[in-house]
Amino acid sequence: MDNHWNLSPAAESAEIAKLKPKYELFINGNWQEPKSKKYFKTINPANEAMLAKVAEAGSEDVDAAFKAAETAFKPWNKLSGAERGKYIYRIARMIQERSREFAVIESLDGGKPIRESRDIDIPLAAAHFFYYAGWADKLQYAFPNKKIQSIGVAAQIIPWNFPLLMAAWKIAPALACGNTVVLKPAETTPLTALKLAEIIEESGLPKGVVNIITGAGETGALMTNHSIPKKLAFTGSTEVGKKIYKAALEGNKKVTLELGGKAANIIFDDAPIDAAVEGIINGIYFNQGHVCCAGSRLFVQESVYEEVLSKLKKRMDSLIVGDPMDKNTDIGAINSAAQLKTIEEYIKIGKEEGAEMYQPECDLPKNGNWCKPTLFTNVAQSNRIAQEEIFGPVLAIQTFRTIDEVIDKANNTPYGLSAGVWTDKGSKIFQLTQALNAGVVWANTYNKFDPTSPFGGYKESGFGREGGVHGLGAYLKY
Ligand code: NAI
Ligand code: MG
Repeated sequence: MDNHWNLSPAAESAEIAKLKPKYELFINGNWQEPKSKKYFKTINPANEAMLAKVAEAGSEDVDAAFKAAETAFKPWNKLSGAERGKYIYRIARMIQERSREFAVIESLDGGKPIRESRDIDIPLAAAHFFYYAGWADKLQYAFPNKKIQSIGVAAQIIPWNFPLLMAAWKIAPALACGNTVVLKPAETTPLTALKLAEIIEESGLPKGVVNIITGAGETGALMTNHSIPKKLAFTGSTEVGKKIYKAALEGNKKVTLELGGKAANIIFDDAPIDAAVEGIINGIYFNQGHVCCAGSRLFVQESVYEEVLSKLKKRMDSLIVGDPMDKNTDIGAINSAAQLKTIEEYIKIGKEEGAEMYQPECDLPKNGNWCKPTLFTNVAQSNRIAQEEIFGPVLAIQTFRTIDEVIDKANNTPYGLSAGVWTDKGSKIFQLTQALNAGVVWANTYNKFDPTSPFGGYKESGFGREGGVHGLGAYLKY
């Protein structure tokens, strides 16, 4: 079938990325070869080409990183808030200055469309550093009449869906609150965190305040079981989150967990339907659906179901799937072969459960990991595709008649991270934001992020808040 749009390719050049063939560990302000002697490859999921070799931190390396962070803590903590803020501002400005390079690397390493890394990931990462830089000398105002203290060393483990942004969410508040950190990016997307380490080195930040080490789950487990960190901060799967919670309890450490989600995006019959359709598309197909707060369960009021469905399918037909480096691309590559396998398995499960699948016709590139935007109708509340996190471009659609019914259905999930409500009526918005068990509820919009606004979940979505003033509390004792 013909695409509605026929746009000529507009590829961003990869030249600016200036990647090294091999990356070492950033420990104590130096690039150190891993004592483990091991390296792993990071590839471009859009064409399977190797981008670089990256060090795998073993137990001696993890130990060295935490010792560096421990030694750096006292002098860093003694600096005035204003002095700490200057360094954080400098990092923010340097990310802005090199934003194009960061965007290109983010898209090469993780497969997300350059339009998203350029317009969302990188500017938001810089915004988080700017925002928390501003708090560094005002912490006492955030906690009036409380005696606040830094925590010490934090171990921070981040996922592959928003690599630089998650590094910013973790590092910026930790530094503003006078702590030092050891951060590990995910094994499929380590490159922007390593670029950030280069900036941190150039910024003159005292050595050891930020240590960035690479590796997979084993390295992560070594970090969370280490005795030095007093705080564990994790974003990723609920399964790993539970292990980290256990390690935090056993080691008597503070912990914040940002885990999965299965958000309800709710469309009432009085909603602005065209805007809502854009919101549905953005809710589930943004970043290939690799979004913990993705609007993966759509609830449409029965009277507008046919209209919404037909407009949604038409809009899906116009989505451009392909080269992440093309500025026209809407849906890039699935982050890894393993994640693609998971998504394909869920699509198979959906069909076997009796749901009806729709995918637009479009050509997919030959190499790399790709999945068409997908929706399922005729979905039952008990279906696995309506209950479990898929973390891909797969939408499960259900209908409802009354407000009470949709509140019950929306809350019938082990998760509680986010939700969306589309209606013309403010009273309905307030009713739903009170009734939905979700950390974030968007009204007549979706997937909007801002450093001033706290983010986090209930139930199996984890606990603790990142962002805003709440995000400071996670890095202080008071
Ligand atoms: P994961 O939870 O295994 O990976 C996230 C991070 O945790 C990575 O840096 C990884 O190296 C690290 N890690 C893995 N095992 C660890 C351990 N035992 N101790 C400490 N750190 C460990 O996520 P994965 O396997 O890549 O994805 C599986 C599913 O998790 C996805 O399909 C999705 O449903 C969910 N997920 C949710 C994310 C979110 O933002 N909430 C992000 C990534 C995945
Ligand atoms: Mg990669």
